[in-house]
Amino acid sequence: MTSLFKTEQLKKSYVTGDTEIHALRGVTTEIPSGELVVMLGPSGSGKSTFLNILGGLDQPASGKVLFKGKNLANLSDHELTYYRREHVGFVFQAYNLVPSLTALENVALVTEISPNPMDPLEALAIVGLKNRANHFPSQMSGGEQQRVAIARALAKRPEVLLCDEPTGALDSETGIVVLSALMKVNEAYATTTIIITHNAAIASLAHRVIHFSDGMIHHVQINETRKTPQEIAW
Ligand SMILES: Nc1ncnc2c1ncn2[C@@H]1O[C@H](COP(=O)(O)OP(=O)(O)OP(=O)(O)O)[C@@H](O)[C@H]1O
Ligand SMILES: [Mg+2]
Repeated sequence: MTSLFKTEQLKKSYVTGDTEIHALRGVTTEIPSGELVVMLGPSGSGKSTFLNILGGLDQPASGKVLFKGKNLANLSDHELTYYRREHVGFVFQAYNLVPSLTALENVALVTEISPNPMDPLEALAIVGLKNRANHFPSQMSGGEQQRVAIARALAKRPEVLLCDEPTGALDSETGIVVLSALMKVNEAYATTTIIITHNAAIASLAHRVIHFSDGMIHHVQINETRKTPQEIAW
């Protein structure tokens, strides 16, 4: 199987006053193309730092990230912007929709600047919101807004979806709907999808579970059989 990402000995620390925090202490791992990957670990264990480095939002102090064999550190600023814009779809806990634009317009905002976009309606259809295209964010529930955010991330046909606690602000039932949408995207388009969560039950949905602790990967679990969102008990 080909790797979408390979990381080698990623390290990152933050100095605040006279304390140094080691956010990443040497993370070496591989993310195969097309997988649904879940990252679990205690608060402060380095998950978001790692995800942001994969997405080109942050740089490691040392070590490297290879995206399809290319070292992100060798990209120019222009190429890095292009990488973030064309290859990576981000989904965060906050939906970050433009309140004055409809669901369709929020998605179209991205497809207008993308070289090979999906029809915004198709993107909304895959997350089950075709009939909400003309609704404003204030007219939608949290789970619906998060699914619009997923449609927006997906509509540029990214090679990877990076999701930092996408269900963190949702109740468990709504969280299942959002996770189902992410699984559907992963299956329909083979988009490599990496999801950070605090909910260990989500792990059984994934092909691969990366357990973080204290700035390191503690272990990686490969699921031979996966559950569906409906099967996981919350
Ligand atoms: N900009 C920053 N300045 C200082 N310290 C930081 C900064 N960003 C992260 N850290 C520290 O690095 C460590 C790892 O943070 P990170 O956000 O990656 O953890 P996390 O696993 O995502 O945690 P959570 O589950 O709470 O989101 C933490 O101790 C955090 O306080
Ligand atoms: Mg985090």
